[in-house]
Amino acid sequence: MSRAELPTELIDKFNRRVDYIRLSVTDRCDFRCVYCMTEDMTFLPRNQILSLEELHRVARAFTELGVKKIRLTGGEPMVRSNVMSLIEKLGALPGLEELLLTTNGAQLEKYAAPLRAAGVNRINISIDSLDADRFKKISRVGKLDRVLAGIDASVAAGFDRIRLNSVIMRGYNEDEVLALTDYAIGKGIDIAFIEEMPLGEASDHDRRQTTCSNDWVKSEIEKKYQLLNSASRTAGPSRYSQIAGHDSRVGFISPVTHNFCADCNRVRITVEGRLLLCLGNEHSVDLRAILRDKSKDDYDLKAAIVAAMDIKPERHYFYDRDHAQPVRLMNMTGG
Ligand code: GTP
Ligand code: 5AD
Ligand code: SF4
Repeated sequence: MSRAELPTELIDKFNRRVDYIRLSVTDRCDFRCVYCMTEDMTFLPRNQILSLEELHRVARAFTELGVKKIRLTGGEPMVRSNVMSLIEKLGALPGLEELLLTTNGAQLEKYAAPLRAAGVNRINISIDSLDADRFKKISRVGKLDRVLAGIDASVAAGFDRIRLNSVIMRGYNEDEVLALTDYAIGKGIDIAFIEEMPLGEASDHDRRQTTCSNDWVKSEIEKKYQLLNSASRTAGPSRYSQIAGHDSRVGFISPVTHNFCADCNRVRITVEGRLLLCLGNEHSVDLRAILRDKSKDDYDLKAAIVAAMDIKPERHYFYDRDHAQPVRLMNMTGG
C-alpha cells in the first residue's frame, strides 16, 4: 500500500484545528465526587488499559501531527502507578508547548515539586468546598486538608499558573461561590466555575435540579468584586474575567448555558485507547487495536488519527430532548 504523506496539523470537517489532547491515564480515583462517579464503581482490568509505553506512543503520534498542548486527566492521574515516569517522558516531547495536569490535588503535597521539575507548565486543581464536612459529602471520601496542603505545595513549586476548578451545584455548595473566590485571590491563583454536565446518571441527585448557570455564579461574585472582561485564553473552554485590583482571574466554563463547541480545538483519549472526538457524543476510534496489532506501525496510528477528524461532531446536545444524552461517566471519558 502506498503511504501518502501525513499532514502536520489536524483539521476537522468544520475547519477547527485540533491542537489540544486530553489524555486519560487512569479511570481510577481516590475520590468519588457525586457529579462524576457513583459510589460503588467497578474499574477497568489492567489488560484493558493502555500501558505507560502505549500512552507515550499515542502522545508522540499526536505531537507529530501538530498537537501543542497535552493535558493529563483521569480519573485522578496521580493514582496511576509510575505516572511520574510517563510525565517526564512527555515533558521531553519535541513540539509540545504545554504539558498540563488536572488533578483532585490530594497528592500534590508530595508531587507538586517533581511535577514542576518534569516539565508540567500549569495545573488545574478541583475543589468544590472549603468546609471539611461538605467537601467530604461532595467527594464522598476526600479530605479537604490534603487538598489545601496540595494547593500550597503547588503555589510553592512555581507553576506558570494554577487554576482551581469548582463545580457549583444547587443544594451542595452554591453558597460558597464568594468564599472559593476569596480563597483563590488569597493564594494569588485563578479559579474556574464549571457548570455541571449531564455525563451519565448521577446516582444521588437529579442534575436538572442542581445545575447552576454561570451567569448566576458571576452575579454572586459581582456582589463583592468588579470583573473586567479579559481577552486572555488558555486554549481551553474557559472565558476569563480579571478580578479588578487582584492578580487572580475567574474563568467560566459554561457548556450547558453557552455552547462553546464552535471553538473546539480538542479531542480525548480514554485510558482504554479510545480516541473520543467529543465529550458529549459517542464518536470514537479504537487506537488500542492499532497499538496492539504487530502488523501496524506509527504511520498507521497517525493515519487513523488523521482520518478520525472527519467524524468529529459539530457540537454536543446536553439536555436536548431530540438527542440521546451521554451515558459515559466523566472518569471513563477522561475529564
Ligand atoms: P485550561 O488548559 O486551563 O484551559 O484547561 P481546561 O479547562 O481545558 O481543562 P480542565 O481539565 O480543567 O477542564 C475543566 C472543565 O472543562 C472540565 O469539566 C472539562 O470536562 C471541561 N471541558 C474541557 N474541555 C471540554 C470540552 O471540549 N467540552 C465540554 N463540554 N467541556 C469541556
Ligand atoms: N460536569 C462538570 N464537570 C465535571 N467534572 C467531573 N464531572 C463533571 C460533570 N459531570 C469536573 C471535575 C474536574 C474536571 C476534570 O471535571 O470537577 O474539575
Ligand atoms: Fe475523582 Fe475528579 Fe471524578 Fe472527583 S471529579 S471522582 S476527583 S476523577
